[in-house]
Amino acid sequence: MNNYKRNLITCALPYANGPVHIGHLAGVYVPADIYVRYLRMRGRETLFVCGSDEHGVPVTMAARKEGCSPQDIVDKYHNIIKKSFAEFGIDFDVYSRTTSKVHHKNASEFFRKLYDDGKFIERESEQFYDPQANVFLADRYIVGTCPKCGAEGAYGDQCEKCGSTLSPEELINPHSKVSGAEPIKKKTKHWYLPLDQYEGWLREWILEGHKEWKSNVYGQVKSWLDGGLQPRAVSRDLDWGVPVPVEGAEGKVLYVWFDAPIGYISNTIELLPDGWEKWWKSPDTRLVHFIGKDNIVFHCIVFPSMLKAYGDGFILPENVPANEFLNLEGDKISTSRNWAVWLNEYLQDFPGKQDTLRYVLTANAPETKDNDFTWKDFQARNNSELVAVFGNFVNRAVVLTHKYFGGAVPADAKPEKIDGEVLAQMPSIRKSIEDNIENYKFREALKEAMNLARLGNKYLTDTEPWAVAKSDLDRTASILNTSLQICANLAIAFAPFLPFSVRKLNGILNIEPMGWDDLGRADLLKPGHQLNKAELLFAKIEDDAIQKQMDRLEAIKKARLEAEAAAAPAVEAAKDECTFDQFSQMDIRTATVLAAERVPKTDKLLKLTIDTGLDKRVIVSGIAQYYTPEEMIGKQICTLANLQPRTIRGIESKGMILMAKQIDGTMRVVSPEEKVCNGAVVG
Ligand code: MF3
Ligand code: ZN
Repeated sequence: MNNYKRNLITCALPYANGPVHIGHLAGVYVPADIYVRYLRMRGRETLFVCGSDEHGVPVTMAARKEGCSPQDIVDKYHNIIKKSFAEFGIDFDVYSRTTSKVHHKNASEFFRKLYDDGKFIERESEQFYDPQANVFLADRYIVGTCPKCGAEGAYGDQCEKCGSTLSPEELINPHSKVSGAEPIKKKTKHWYLPLDQYEGWLREWILEGHKEWKSNVYGQVKSWLDGGLQPRAVSRDLDWGVPVPVEGAEGKVLYVWFDAPIGYISNTIELLPDGWEKWWKSPDTRLVHFIGKDNIVFHCIVFPSMLKAYGDGFILPENVPANEFLNLEGDKISTSRNWAVWLNEYLQDFPGKQDTLRYVLTANAPETKDNDFTWKDFQARNNSELVAVFGNFVNRAVVLTHKYFGGAVPADAKPEKIDGEVLAQMPSIRKSIEDNIENYKFREALKEAMNLARLGNKYLTDTEPWAVAKSDLDRTASILNTSLQICANLAIAFAPFLPFSVRKLNGILNIEPMGWDDLGRADLLKPGHQLNKAELLFAKIEDDAIQKQMDRLEAIKKARLEAEAAAAPAVEAAKDECTFDQFSQMDIRTATVLAAERVPKTDKLLKLTIDTGLDKRVIVSGIAQYYTPEEMIGKQICTLANLQPRTIRGIESKGMILMAKQIDGTMRVVSPEEKVCNGAVVG
């Protein structure tokens, strides 16, 4: 365990332009909450800070889409997010928002100090501008045709159809989302944080000083630093955000990634107006940022450079355990495409099942690589792990205690070796949970906790107290005593992970919540201690509940595919005019495929032998994805017979066969409607 006096734990501030989804939860909020609960159980002074990130272009875009003001949007989603976190048991000490007065003042002062200290550089640049609406346009506000795949409605930074990264310059027919006008370029002035000046310091601090950081985080930082850092603009031309507190900066706000991390500090100030500094400016405080991988550069490079520039004793993160992404049923989770399981909807659809989701997201946490959430896996883990192992064990132990001993913990009247052997495993399980949690390996830690439940469940099955009770109540007493001690230990081991179930379990066992240090003890329940009635810790999830969720996703996918198909161009663009002579120069003839085989070591090529009426010749054709050799043999096709021969994979190919290529790339051969002789001229 670390030696710091206190722990300041932050979670990435979620954008208030949509509800929180399972990807956010698995990557950031659930692991952070586990960590905080663990620290608190160990008696560590801990502060858990979060809030909504309410500025930035996505909020203004959501407002435009829903026909309301940005403030309406963030009010709506801030409330939804805050409420669902609370219901889900993410136990923040403060959950505020970046539109708060405290934050506006704090972020503004932060900028102003850096400005006054000469930490920024000013630069003029040309930015896209909407001449009709008189506003500068963020890349996302410029749409047009994707130069890569031809889809309409591609954004100035990305085409959502084909996933290509774009710049507004590349779009075909670019136009402003605000007015529809064609954007022009216009000069504007911004303030930049010269990150290049912090490169050496960052190298030393992270690359030399924090080799223990997760390899995905360390690796990303290293590649940013190796690529060389550039000055970064910290202001934007936008009417939504914290106004730049400098004269002559009308219409400019702080860049959202400048103000949002300052929100961690602002929210601490809001909670502890007089006591916040010890959390942010004392070397006794350990700062840990929980984030997703898309936030690494901001938390490891930009924000630390801001704090370093500010000076005044601000501490830096001691670790930044960023996670990879969670996919949903094989597809990337996306707010804009509505491909997500939203927390607020989950809480409605599965009331009282917070812990099932907490369990599944931790068991599948994308800690080292992207992972996939599927509803089938969700159901299986609930039914065959939580219900069948953990729940079943506790239930059997408690029910049998009521049956044979009136619900009072029986004395260890007739111990046997196996009891001691089982109990003796608890300290090493505890150690393993601790080591894993302290190294941010929550899925391993959870697995270890589950191993304790498995151990108990197996012990009961092996010792069969219900059978022993027929002849030996003393031995039954020992078995149940042992089992109940394990139950009490489970109430500790699972407390960081499954707070709702542990509360229930404590109720059943009729005990107060215990501290972490009690984990591993075999005497947590004294003989004679009265238990409460047995209650199921977990309920089975039936197929129809899962089917409903899968149907919902299916419908969303179908709607999206249809919308994409409607937006996609049906045919390739027309080609330039040609002359009749150019056309008649092409010797197109009918021919019949005599033989066909795959070209070895390729998956696209077929080697065809064809009869052109003029001769028999070999053609190599890229159609193996669409036709098997067997399908081709005997087919009559059309061939461009006078195409210059080419050698493909060592085979001389004389001519080509004509294919109809559809916009999605699939191909079909072009054949005469009825059989004709080989060598008939097509034209
Ligand atoms: N809103 C950002 C996101 O969802 C995270 C902001 S983290 C903060 O990716 F540090 F800037 F607050
Ligand atoms: Zn595209």
